[in-house]
Amino acid sequence: MDLIQKLQPQIEKIKTISHRLGFEMSCDLEVANLCAIVARGCHGNSLELGTGTGLSTLFLAEVLGAGRLDTVDVNEE
Ligand SMILES: C[S@@+](CC[C@H](N)C(=O)[O-])C[C@H]1O[C@@H](n2cnc3c(N)ncnc32)[C@H](O)[C@@H]1O
Repeated sequence: MDLIQKLQPQIEKIKTISHRLGFEMSCDLEVANLCAIVARGCHGNSLELGTGTGLSTLFLAEVLGAGRLDTVDVNEE
């Protein structure tokens, strides 16, 4: 199943929260999907710089293998 389709419920939640927070910098779904394609099967620990409201994090978490995914953002909100 297409990842965007599979993650649609979570994507909608993130969109709702982003809208509520006024966060308009989420990446395009195609970009998040591309990140997932590149990261798929990577093992070990990963660090994402720039969480935003977690859209790309959602895709990365879905495809990364064993290991830990940390994500940080300079914006505390
Ligand atoms: C274009 S948004 C992308 C957010 C998320 N990765 C996504 O794809 O929806 C970039 C994010 O990176 C954060 N950011 C910018 N510079 C940063 C830095 N030096 N370290 C950590 N986060 C940073 C911003 O606050 C913003 O939330």
